Amino acid sequence: MHHFQYREGELYWEDVPLARIAEEVGTPAYVYSYATLERHFRVFDSALNEGGPRKHLVCYSVKANSNLAVLRALVSFGAGVDTVSRGEIFRALKVGADPKKIVFSGVGKREDEIAYALEQGILAFNVESHGELEAIERVAARLGPKLKTKAPVSLRVNPDVDAETHPYISTGLKKNKFGIPVAWAREEFRAAAKMPHLEVVGLDCHIGSQLTKTAPFQDAIARLGELARTLVVDGHRLRYLDIGGGLGIPYNQEDPPSPAEYGEAIRAALAAFEGPELSGLTLICEPGRVIVGNAGVLVTRTLYLKQSEIKNFVIVDAAMNDLIRPAFYDSYHAIWPVVKRGGPAYAADVVGPICETGDFLARDRSLAHKPEEGELLAVLSAGAYGFTMSSNYNTRPRVAEVMVKGGEFAVVRRRETLDDLIRGEEIPKFVG
Ligand code: LLP
Repeated sequence: MHHFQYREGELYWEDVPLARIAEEVGTPAYVYSYATLERHFRVFDSALNEGGPRKHLVCYSVKANSNLAVLRALVSFGAGVDTVSRGEIFRALKVGADPKKIVFSGVGKREDEIAYALEQGILAFNVESHGELEAIERVAARLGPKLKTKAPVSLRVNPDVDAETHPYISTGLKKNKFGIPVAWAREEFRAAAKMPHLEVVGLDCHIGSQLTKTAPFQDAIARLGELARTLVVDGHRLRYLDIGGGLGIPYNQEDPPSPAEYGEAIRAALAAFEGPELSGLTLICEPGRVIVGNAGVLVTRTLYLKQSEIKNFVIVDAAMNDLIRPAFYDSYHAIWPVVKRGGPAYAADVVGPICETGDFLARDRSLAHKPEEGELLAVLSAGAYGFTMSSNYNTRPRVAEVMVKGGEFAVVRRRETLDDLIRGEEIPKFVG
């Protein structure tokens, strides 16, 4: 069931016309659909269930969209969370996430962040280097009796597989900064097991984002499975096999595997390693984009139409500070009129007000019709890495976020005010 559709020429999220939200909340605004979030989560979760009783935990990757209402919805559906900072753990706890369903990833955890996570009693640290193992050991020793258990660690390995995605979001190659080389993993596991305040609980990887094929996932699992077996023989008691996130979504012409196909591929790859030693492992997945990406749009208003000698420009009120993906990765986001008017297609660059040539939402795009000044446009597939990557560049307030559910909607983050923009700044006396 699709919740994003035109009804008599007007674009609706669930039962609410986007134009109504724009009138009441203003533009630009991110608008998320609760029903879509729920559908995406449940489809993904059940895809891992099918065909066997494998225990699994879906840890939604908070970085994709960390709005509290989004997180609360997902946690209420049973999601765990994948976090990469103290701030993300804080958000997860705010919405009632069970600490025993929180994993903490990332190559650069600071000691204060490690201490915070240990005090909350999270499920596992996904550890990326020897230095980090030592840091966790040090902090756990320092916290000592305050902790009820040893520090649970999974080691993230770098399986050296090509995710065949944009180089900026490919993470599983030897040249990337992520994980521990598979060849060194046994040694690091041995080192971890010797540290008195650590408990080795799992094996982890994440090979990249926006993957549109299943083969790289299967290759990674093949390497992980083989390693897991060796580790069990070495005497480690692994409980979790975390295969990270990365399943892609259609932005334009991409045809990524469905969650069902992904689940099937994962199961097939795991089956090769089923044996008494590994059958007790709980599978952890860390999807972000596939859950929220197509559950959100960015609604923007046309300010001006402008021509150069060779191009048409549609200048809108959303900019690269609000949605950086086109500028940063040259990524494609479909742009639809909020109200269809018919008429011939119109070729243009859709650009924002920021003083950078890179400030575009679309280049050389064929729009459904020539927008008029004041007309609303919806930038699609903006629910993941949209608001979370936004900034105040050009001293632009960050935009409002809205959630729709059925016929209702609510602002889930108000638009920033001028005071928000200067909060925390001070002029010292010596400046005068
Ligand atoms: N787990 C780890 C350890 C990650 O680093 C990531 C994403 C995920 C899970 C979630 O991946 P997903 O399922 O969303 O693909 N800003 C980029 C994407 C960066 C992804 C970073 N890591 C973009 O806008 O395309």
